[in-house]
Amino acid sequence: MTNEFNTPPAWRIPDSIVFGLHSMQDHTQTLDPAEDECVRSAAPKRRLEFSTARHAIRQIMTTWGIPPQPVTIGADGQPIWPKPVHGSITHTRDLCWVALTRDPEIRSIGIDIERRDRMHPGLWERITTDSERSTRACDTLPSGISANDFHSVIFSAKEAFFKCQYPLTSRWLGFKDVELSMSFDSDSVTASIANGQRFPNDDLSLSGFFSITEQHVFSIFLLSSNRNTGEPAPLESHL
Ligand SMILES: CC(C)(COP(=O)(O)OP(=O)(O)OC[C@H]1O[C@@H](n2cnc3c(N)ncnc32)[C@H](O)[C@@H]1OP(=O)(O)O)[C@@H](O)C(=O)NCCC(=O)NCCS
Repeated sequence: MTNEFNTPPAWRIPDSIVFGLHSMQDHTQTLDPAEDECVRSAAPKRRLEFSTARHAIRQIMTTWGIPPQPVTIGADGQPIWPKPVHGSITHTRDLCWVALTRDPEIRSIGIDIERRDRMHPGLWERITTDSERSTRACDTLPSGISANDFHSVIFSAKEAFFKCQYPLTSRWLGFKDVELSMSFDSDSVTASIANGQRFPNDDLSLSGFFSITEQHVFSIFLLSSNRNTGEPAPLESHL
């Protein structure tokens, strides 16, 4: 485990979601055979990140008294969780972060980490919509937040949003299909589908949080059910 990051108090995240943040370490020897099959012919870096994530997940399951069970991957790369556990996984070259829950009220979680030093101006245009670009004027960013950091948050939050929505919609979305509105005061972000497109049977936007640390950007989106009725709530009404 690493101490680089603690969930910020400003993130209004239910206690039923548990996080694990780990430095990359080779745990391939402890993979379940079904997990090993997923990365048998993969490059060493891929086996390293995949096995670190499975180690992190197993540690959380163990604290819950759940016997080790494989977390494999589906045809589109999505994690296949052993019921009732589900969550989200992300890795950079140095860190692996997982978020898990067994709370049936949590419908989906999407998390992402990016290294701040990976962003560069050549990527800015490819990951932003016209509207996002119009709000990025550097003089409106808080002190200490560079235009590159602004784009790291955009990149990370869109990947977290993608992972949150995919298990519910099976829908592939590009970076320009999603529009973000960020508040650097509350470290919060709202994502909408750009150009007025809609998710079937759901509303248009979803809220999440981000945090900029010394070297990384962390992001999370989640979607929970309405605790009063048990009915799925509109995507926009969460957190
Ligand atoms: C899927 C994707 C988001 C993963 O992001 P990444 O930066 O490559 O890698 P990360 O380390 O952050 O995340 C990897 C994890 O994502 C998860 N993941 C992969 N595909 C997924 C999907 N379709 N749905 C949910 N989670 C998925 C997996 O758990 C994977 O970890 P694992 O292989 O150890 O199980 C990315 O590869 C991708 O396809 N992006 C294009 C779509 C997109 O981001 N659109 C942005 C606008 S919404």
